[in-house]
Amino acid sequence: MYSVDHVDAGTPAPVTPSPSPQFVTLEIDGVTVTVPEGTSIMRAASRVGNQIPKLCATDTLKAFGSCRLCLVEVEGRRGFPASCTTVVSEGMKVRTHGDHLSRLRRNVIELYVSDHPLDCITCPANGHCELQDMAEVVGVEHSRYAFGGADHQDAKTDESNPYFTFDPTMCIACSRCVRACDEQQGTFALTIHGRGFASRVAASQSQPFLESECVSCGACVEACPTLALTEKSVLAKGTADRAVKTTCAYCGVGCSFKAELRNGDLIRMVPDRDGHANHGHSCVKGRFAFGYTTHPDRITTPMIRRSIEEPWQEVTWDEAIAHAASEFKRLQATYGKYAIGGITSSRCTNEETFLVQKLVRAAFGNNNTDTCARVCHSPTGYGLKSTIGESAGTQRFDSVMQADVIIVVGANPTDGHPVFASQMKRRLREGAKLIVADPRAIGLVRSPHIEAAYHLQLRPGTNVALFDSISHVVVTEGLAKEDYVRERCEPASWEAWKAFVSEARNSPEAMETVTGVPADLVRQAARLYATARNGAIYYGLGVTEHSQGTTMVMAIANLAMATGNLGREGVGVNPLRGQNNVQGSCDMGSFPHEFAGYRHVSDPVVRAMFEKDWGVTLEAEPGLRIPNMLEAALDGSFKGMYIQGEDPAQSDPDTQHVTAALASMECVVVQDLFLTETAKYAHVFFPGSSFLEKDGTFTNAERRISRVRKIMEPRAGLADWEVTVRLANAMGYPMRYSHPSEVMDEIARLTPTFKGVTFEKIDRLGSIQWPCNDAAPEGTPTMHVGQFVRGKGKFFVTEYVPTTERTTRRYPLILTTGRILSQYNVGAQTRRTGNVAWAHADVLEIHPADAELRGIKQGDWVGVTSRSGEIVLPAEVTERVRPGVVYTTFHFPESGANVVTTENSDWATNCPEYKVTAVEVMQVNQPSEWQKRFRTFTDQQLDLLKAHETVGVTRR
Ligand code: SF4
Ligand code: SF4
Ligand code: SF4
Ligand code: FES
Repeated sequence: MYSVDHVDAGTPAPVTPSPSPQFVTLEIDGVTVTVPEGTSIMRAASRVGNQIPKLCATDTLKAFGSCRLCLVEVEGRRGFPASCTTVVSEGMKVRTHGDHLSRLRRNVIELYVSDHPLDCITCPANGHCELQDMAEVVGVEHSRYAFGGADHQDAKTDESNPYFTFDPTMCIACSRCVRACDEQQGTFALTIHGRGFASRVAASQSQPFLESECVSCGACVEACPTLALTEKSVLAKGTADRAVKTTCAYCGVGCSFKAELRNGDLIRMVPDRDGHANHGHSCVKGRFAFGYTTHPDRITTPMIRRSIEEPWQEVTWDEAIAHAASEFKRLQATYGKYAIGGITSSRCTNEETFLVQKLVRAAFGNNNTDTCARVCHSPTGYGLKSTIGESAGTQRFDSVMQADVIIVVGANPTDGHPVFASQMKRRLREGAKLIVADPRAIGLVRSPHIEAAYHLQLRPGTNVALFDSISHVVVTEGLAKEDYVRERCEPASWEAWKAFVSEARNSPEAMETVTGVPADLVRQAARLYATARNGAIYYGLGVTEHSQGTTMVMAIANLAMATGNLGREGVGVNPLRGQNNVQGSCDMGSFPHEFAGYRHVSDPVVRAMFEKDWGVTLEAEPGLRIPNMLEAALDGSFKGMYIQGEDPAQSDPDTQHVTAALASMECVVVQDLFLTETAKYAHVFFPGSSFLEKDGTFTNAERRISRVRKIMEPRAGLADWEVTVRLANAMGYPMRYSHPSEVMDEIARLTPTFKGVTFEKIDRLGSIQWPCNDAAPEGTPTMHVGQFVRGKGKFFVTEYVPTTERTTRRYPLILTTGRILSQYNVGAQTRRTGNVAWAHADVLEIHPADAELRGIKQGDWVGVTSRSGEIVLPAEVTERVRPGVVYTTFHFPESGANVVTTENSDWATNCPEYKVTAVEVMQVNQPSEWQKRFRTFTDQQLDLLKAHETVGVTRR
């Protein structure tokens, strides 16, 4: 079993201003210990195995010094200082034990116990309660103060949060929860109301947790030393008997968790304090939203059917795989070898993704492989590879703690990447400045203790114009780092770009009419970023999902190079990846034109290496991208598809076009947990395995490869990787792996940036950031140090070209789309969890001025019509969006956000232009025609799914 032990050192490691801190030597109970300057006595003692009793201290929070349990004696000092708040000094002599100290500590514990339920043995936290532990450590069995006095034992429990309870009778007012919410999460939802005996924890204005500002990150629950704040799952099922470390299956932050189990049941997910991406923090999704893994909607038996009008028939794995293989072979024999292809998933592991693209290239014999990253971050790959030489973010998340000015453009980290947002907010509270470039007032623009220095609230679709004008200011005001550029970039490209951005037409004043952002704001923001000691840029899908997505990625890289903000801690260009393994699915060679490690299929040397290893001849021409596959399906030349863990019928643009293409194919094979929107068009259903049911790795947005560990057996009997292996064998291409670690060995063998990566090494180091190679055997936290991966950085002229999707009198508003904290992507997972308590439907955000013009009030049903289609949503009238812009999410299939999005896409990568759709909005009183058809079709498909119980032959 992988070790998950973490000894709580009581206080965090000291923040050292330099990489080489000064050390201090002292004596604790006669033992000599040397620790970095600034360390607390408590932490120093812990380093030599001496755990000083404590209650209000924990090593994820700053010391507070309220419980007085950790008192020690220091030679030459009067009194009994608290070891959590007292910092070590050279030559200090500390005594942590003694009769007097014991008496003091016993007294403290007796006072706490006197106002605490006296049922330790039957308490569900028995064995996992720090108060109980401390009582035992200091030798308290009863309290002298326990009888007759006032107490809080009749206080009511708050059950409002779907995942945890707050029981005030258990509360010892240690304030760890309040500090966790402030320091770790940055939401400031909790306070200690009242003083002395009347002190009590309150959420917001003494509201139930669910109604308060609480975002259910769980930091307070994790920090609470008693059962006061406790997961409902622990109360219902008891505490765990074992724990396994794994990686969150939701967003690209890639948080590390201890999955705690009891009798094989997952009890809770505890954020790993040693996790390199999250340092013990989490968000509501990773922490609590795992109920989908055991949801009754899960399909756990393979199924086949001849057409989508027929009921499903349950079959054995062998039958399902043989049927899929024979269908694929038939289609290739009838329509040619290019008539089929596959889609890999950014929700699946690196190993699974690698195998699917290998299946397509080696067993299907073509390059018709693509990934859902096509519709999110493909412009990142192209744009960063072209400018700086590597298709990945340049930093580790911790780098943000060195940033002085942070630009967040086209991203909403508090909702999309919450744990990283909390870290960024910590840095902002320390004084870093923030520039937000977004059409919406995202959460970071103003939140407790944080306010963006500038919110550049641009019109959707004008990113490039805005960044060209920022660069104009940098260059024309002499703010560029010419020495850096001279040393590290291609001179000709620099001169050409400099001349281009210097043109008056790219000035903030000239671009103001395009972007809608006042020129003086742009000038001030540009100066702030360019003159920062360290300037960092973080961006998301609001950058990439445009017709100029790649141009904008290049514009960001241009700006970072021009200002010298690449190649060290605190700076960089950082794409925030949406799904957990977007980086990994791209790295693994999912795109039709690239092998693993972003090497073009036309490169004869690379191809020869893969051919030798795989024992087949490989195609030198790129295959079809997802939109091309769908087009070809409608043209009648593309007939079959293997779709692992992806749901294009909901996630891809122009839903009606996608579903028509799926319906036109003869064999759609879907591998997933549920009957997804795409699975409703499938002929073969392979039940998928959740992240708890398989081994593998995910690669997060900072290139960090982390282990996913099997916690329970696959509910359907096979893990996803095993199914792909069997399908390849059934297709006649032999694949022999007994464990995903062998797939990683192959990836490492064939991919220079993964050289030396093994499961054993990841287990040993905790995680590895690629590139990993002979020069950096333990990985590379910061890229482009000294020089760019491509040698010299290359500037690209980024001419602003307006999208063809224009507002007109008929479609006067711009619809832009995004996501919310509690839901994830197409929602197939989070809709099947308690997270629906926060959001159970998509809504349309509309500015009060636009709403008033149309007579729309809060909660009204409104029709949203574009050139592609019409949907109906409830309206939310809000100033979060600027006038002229409306916004929605795409988490609920019945809302059909992608029915209205267009087929426009990025010029370089075909990434869809989700962020700009011209629409009109009006009051309506019934669902759209598409929604009515959707409901009918869904009902039919659910009936056909149920029908298998009567007509299907169940064989396992
Ligand atoms: S769950 Fe998170 S946001 Fe809510 S009160 Fe606790 S720490 Fe604060
Ligand atoms: S709820 Fe828990 S963490 Fe918060 S003050 Fe009470 S005992 Fe401490
Ligand atoms: S921030 Fe992302 S990776 Fe971390 S717990 Fe939340 S969803 Fe999971
Ligand atoms: S642990 Fe030091 S005062 Fe509470």
